[in-house]
Order: sequence, then C-alpha cells, then structure tokens
Amino acid sequence: MTKINLENLKIEIEKRVKRAKDLKELDEIFKKYLGKKGEITQILRSLKDLPEKERKKRGELANQIKQDIEKTVRVGREKFQSSSSKFPKEWLDVTVPGKKPALGHLHPLTLIKRKTEEIFEAMGFSVIEGPEVENEWYNFDALNIPKDHPARDVWDTLWLKEPQSQKLLLRTHTSPVQIRYMEKNNPPLRMIVPGRIFRHEATDASHEINFYQLEGLMLGKDISAANFKAIIEEFFSRFFEKEVKIRLRPSFFPFTEPSFEVDIGCLVCKGRGCKVCAQTGWVELMGAGMVHPNVLKAAGINPKNWPGFAFGIGMDRLAMMKYKINDIRLFYSGDLRFLEQF
Ligand code: DAH
Repeated sequence: MTKINLENLKIEIEKRVKRAKDLKELDEIFKKYLGKKGEITQILRSLKDLPEKERKKRGELANQIKQDIEKTVRVGREKFQSSSSKFPKEWLDVTVPGKKPALGHLHPLTLIKRKTEEIFEAMGFSVIEGPEVENEWYNFDALNIPKDHPARDVWDTLWLKEPQSQKLLLRTHTSPVQIRYMEKNNPPLRMIVPGRIFRHEATDASHEINFYQLEGLMLGKDISAANFKAIIEEFFSRFFEKEVKIRLRPSFFPFTEPSFEVDIGCLVCKGRGCKVCAQTGWVELMGAGMVHPNVLKAAGINPKNWPGFAFGIGMDRLAMMKYKINDIRLFYSGDLRFLEQF
C-alpha cells in the first residue's frame, strides 16, 4: 500500500469540512474518508500488513485522525442542523418595520350620520328607521299632500311598476316615518330619522337621484318654534364645533304650519359672501315648521293637546359644508381617491 502522509490528509480533510456548504456535502466527505471504502478506513484496514513497530505508530495516528474527523464532521453537522438548514426559514427579525394591512375608511356620509345621531341622542331624541319603499298614504296623503294637489309635483317621484294592486314608490323624503312613528308611540316624543331617499331628477353638482335626509320630530305640551330654534342652533354648533348663526325664513310645506326655511351663516366665508353661499352669507340647509294639525290627526293624535315641530335636513349638504365638498356626486362615485381622505 502506498504510504499516505497522514498529517497532510488530516489538514486536507479539515479544510474540506470547513468549506462544506450543506449537510449533503458533509456526508459525502464523511463517506469519502470514513465510509466502508473510505480512504482512512482502508488505511486502518491495511495496518495489519505493516511491521509491528510501524503498525503501532501509524495505527495510533490513523485512529487519532479518524476520531478528529468524526468530531469535525459531527460539529459541522450540528452547525448546519441548528443554523443554516432549519433556522433561516423560521428566523424572524422583530425589529423590521411591519407591513401595515390597508385599512378601510368610513364613508363621509356614515361619519355624518353617526355624529348627527350622537348629538340628537344626547338631547333625548330616539333614532328611528323606516322603509325605503313606501305607499302613497305615508309618503303623501297622511302628510297633508292630497292626490291631484299641485304640491305633489314638488317631489319628483320614482314609482314602482309592481305590484299592480297598490301603488308603491321609493320614498321621496323621510317625513313618512313621522306618521309611522306617531301611530305606534304616544306623545310627548322626540325622534330623528336618518335615511336614504329618492328623486326622479337630473343630476348635477348639487342634485342626485338618491341622497340622505335627516327627519326630526318633537311633540310636547308647550312646544313652540322657540324650542325648535334653540335645539337646532345647539345641534349646528355641536355639529360644526363652533358657534353657528341660524335664521328662519317663512316658507311653505304642506305638513307644517307655519313653515320655515332654515339658513346657517356660511362657514366657508364666515358670512362675507362667497361662491358656496352665492354671495349672500347664508346657506339654506333645511326645511322645518310646526306640525300641521292634519298630519297629527292622520296619525291619530289630538292636535290640541300635542303641538310640536318637525324638520328635514339634507345630510349630503351637511357633509358638504362640514368637509368643504363642492359636488354631491362624489359621495356616490365609489372613487377611492375621494373616499380615502376620510
Ligand atoms: N320633507 C321635506 C322635503 O323633503 C323636508 C321637510 C321640510 C321635512 C319641513 C320636515 C319639515 O319635517 O317640517 O323637502
């Protein structure tokens, strides 16, 4: 057998083990030197053919090398098992800034609705809902808007074709919920109705075929227009988080007598005159009035005992004033560039 320099072999093997990149490579090195036909294994096997003196010396050295290599390979193996093979996959750097999942946004009209409800609830009003599909009685007749009366034309109505047996429509205002509520609840009462309404209208920057209203109703022993003014002024001041001036102008609604139009001092120009208020310093935000006796009678309430006021605010208008938005159609556009601002 050729005499291999065992010391050199040891150095060579150690170098290889160090350079090994993975477990597989290590196993190959182990097999090459210490496997059944491995170089060291063969050296050890051939010791018996050597003269005794030499056998002893070389034998000790070969065994020593065998143990050393076994150890090096074992250590290398442990290193791969604990670090390079398993650990990197599971390793997590908790100091890396996280990826934030994109959060959704509440629609500006939802924000307005919630804020409005919160303010009125704090003043003792209940929040009520009603159907979006109505019949003529609740949407018109009970509100003192008789059939064939020209006042009906004010509300451009979307009629439903079905069912033929009764004429149904998409409610043109939230006022019918007043009647529904008064039928089931005895005065004194205070309620608001935030809700979606529908109009058969051409759309532009300030008109949509559907939008949101906030109806209000308060009945009580001595309720007068002065109570209305106080409550609505309080509402606007809390809503806009600043002192808001209001003024009442005489108007006409079939369901109130007297009726008024309510303006607030323009918040954009602070009353000096601008585009939003058409240079008047005032913005029209709602209709209101003292509930008409015919309306109370239609709901089974004695008008002599229970006077009260009612009002209807355009919620889109409120949102436009609050967030300084100049086109109502943006609310219904589904445009994320708009929505993500809220
Ligand atoms: N329902 C009216 C409309 O849609 C708004 C309104 C005006 C409601 C005066 C009221 C009211 O309750 O008193 O134009």
